[in-house]
Amino acid sequence: MCKIVSLVLYFSALHSIPEMMTKTILKTAYQILEKSILYHKGEPIGTVAALSSPDLAAANYEECFIRDFVPSALVFLSDGRTDIVRNFLKTVLTLRTRERTVAGHEIQPGVMPASFRVTETDEGEILQADFGEKAIGRVAPVDSMMWWVILLYIYTESTGDKELAKSEEFQSTLRQILHLCLKDSFEVSPALLVPDACTMIDRRMGIYGHPLEIQSLFYAVLRVTHHLLDKQPTRRQGETDILDTAISRQSALQNYVRIFYWLDMERLNEIHRYTTEQFGTDSVNVLNIYPESIPNWVTDWLPDQCGYLVGNIGPSRMDFRLFTLGNLIAVMFGLATDVQSEKIIRLYESRWDDLIGSMPVKIIYPAMEGLEWQVRTGSDPKNVPWSYQNGGNWPALLWPFVAAALKTGRGDLAERAFQVAISRLSFDNWPEYYDSKTGRLIGRRANMQQVWSATSVILSHKLLEDPELLKLLPK
Ligand code: GLC
Repeated sequence: MCKIVSLVLYFSALHSIPEMMTKTILKTAYQILEKSILYHKGEPIGTVAALSSPDLAAANYEECFIRDFVPSALVFLSDGRTDIVRNFLKTVLTLRTRERTVAGHEIQPGVMPASFRVTETDEGEILQADFGEKAIGRVAPVDSMMWWVILLYIYTESTGDKELAKSEEFQSTLRQILHLCLKDSFEVSPALLVPDACTMIDRRMGIYGHPLEIQSLFYAVLRVTHHLLDKQPTRRQGETDILDTAISRQSALQNYVRIFYWLDMERLNEIHRYTTEQFGTDSVNVLNIYPESIPNWVTDWLPDQCGYLVGNIGPSRMDFRLFTLGNLIAVMFGLATDVQSEKIIRLYESRWDDLIGSMPVKIIYPAMEGLEWQVRTGSDPKNVPWSYQNGGNWPALLWPFVAAALKTGRGDLAERAFQVAISRLSFDNWPEYYDSKTGRLIGRRANMQQVWSATSVILSHKLLEDPELLKLLPK
């Protein structure tokens, strides 16, 4: 093993691992994927989050998480194992009606679970879903139903099986999801208002409001529903179908994000010189952002010719932190303009050590420290600065980086990040995340044999070998 490790270190210093060694690493990743398959009544229906080991960080890692299954699904689809993806889509659909309710406080129908498990009972195997009631933050995930819709679209495109989405149950579920996301609330902006901890970041991290990750996923959902959902004949004059509402919301959301979330040097200068407290419809500083709220780090850190979508916006609030997943999804699914997409990827190139470092990719930059960490995370010891969700490096984010880089014509960066990832992951036993500013340490409380760390590598390799696979993503 030591000999292999030193060989890998030697080759990674040369920036390229030989194909033979890559094949061995991919083989190990596939072994993890295979062992992770969850069966129900003899049928494969998903993959668990991490392989059982005596030191699993949390009991629910034995469950199938909706978001974690996405890279597994894409690997299965590209390998022609479509049955498992179909079973997964059907299973999650049935689980959405099984949420436990608290009197007077029912979870809205259409919300899908964060995860589910198969449990043995006297009556046989049963499926048990978790809508956040057993998770750390006790928050229902908002991203699950969005990933489900996106995956349904990819499944349909890749298999040509249009029947599944057109079935009555799927049509009514799609409508339920749209109603839930589009219904009138107290909101005045086209962005979706959600609680903290309802995304991949499922602990308190100060992302309540309008986090970018949700807006990017929401945009993708709006974009694909007209491929999946049939228009219903309107019953009354003047009545609009939910599908029409979805289409107009899609363009409103797109404009809003492209304008208000965008940050580059030109925009930073604008904000720096903003006039505040403006009234009326013609005000420039619509959200009343105070220039004093620009954090010191951003001015020196943001290079010329680069940019990114900020983490969150709201009244007098701009969360300047860079959230990787929201940005990469915005590039992959066309929420960001072509120029913005190029600038985002260039930012990763220019700030390589900060955002890729020793393990792609940094989940959030920068980490919150001191008082800010205390107040925003509730002094969460797992989310200490530069660890886990507060600035850790996550291999699961490799595939969105590779996809986004390929989409913007930066295959060179995609390949470079892939080489960094495979130089360590297999030898570190596929950790869930890495710690420290540049991701040099294995996460203090990271699981080993984390399934989406492995599938992310397999999928990235597939995308690099055949960028045509990108065509399956919502465009
Ligand atoms: C952690 C992550 C979440 C992931 C889960 C299972 O809770 O924050 O994004 O889905 O682990 O891997």
